[in-house]
Amino acid sequence: MRGLLFALLFAGAGAHAQTVTREEGLAAWERIYAVASHPRCTNCHVGAQQEPMWEGLHYKAGTPHGMGVKADGSRIGAESMPCRTCHVTAEGRNVASPAPAQIDDAWRLPPVEMDWLGEDSASVCAQLRDPERNDGSDIADLVVHLETSAFVAWGFAPGPGRSVPPGSVAQIAADVDLWGAAGSPCQ
Ligand code: HEC
Ligand code: HEC
Repeated sequence: MRGLLFALLFAGAGAHAQTVTREEGLAAWERIYAVASHPRCTNCHVGAQQEPMWEGLHYKAGTPHGMGVKADGSRIGAESMPCRTCHVTAEGRNVASPAPAQIDDAWRLPPVEMDWLGEDSASVCAQLRDPERNDGSDIADLVVHLETSAFVAWGFAPGPGRSVPPGSVAQIAADVDLWGAAGSPCQ
């Protein structure tokens, strides 16, 4: 009984309580990349093109955001048509496509360095573990972001008419923790 109790306590203490092998880290990375490369994430995680995407919706592959929307250097369209014109900041997570998604945060593109659109596993992996290119985050910061970001929460519950990435918010947060404990291996 006491042994079981200790096992449960250690299981709850997270990946760092035990040794995580490189293989386990690489397997966790594969699951992370399956999410990061999904259109619910890559439609926002675009690079210098400054143009969000409408992939994985009811348009043909590679369709950029309609109506000539540009994010510009501000990443919120401040120079032309702000995202908030249509993507209202309000709880409304299950709004169906083709209505504009709305969340309880300002809808915007991430920094240019967080470009995942069309990037292979090795590139996204190298970017995500580099604080110079991941918004200054260490592994713990990434886990907190995944657990608390309104964007990530929306990605896993985007409402009718939109496909969802594999797993869940809790799963990708746990996988990033595991990947970090293994030394963030890429290949
Ligand atoms: C509406 C656009 C949008 C969507 C959709 C989106 N993100 Fe992001 N993401 C951002 C922004 C903006 C940032 C920069 C940090 C911030 O401002 O919160 C970011 C940053 C991140 C970061 C870096 C964390 C950090 O510390 O800055 C990770 C990891 C991330 N996103 C994961 C995801 C995943 C996984 C998905 C899909 C399930 C996703 N994002 C979907 C906008 C988006
Ligand atoms: C004129 C209204 C309008 C403006 C302005 C606008 N959007 Fe959109 N956006 C939409 C609509 C409508 C959809 C849903 C399309 C669909 O589901 O068929 C959408 C969808 C999206 C998607 C895809 C979401 C998904 O399901 O994967 C992203 C990403 C996005 N917008 C980003 C932005 C960003 C970033 C800005 C500001 C730079 C912006 N939008 C400005 C109307 C707008």
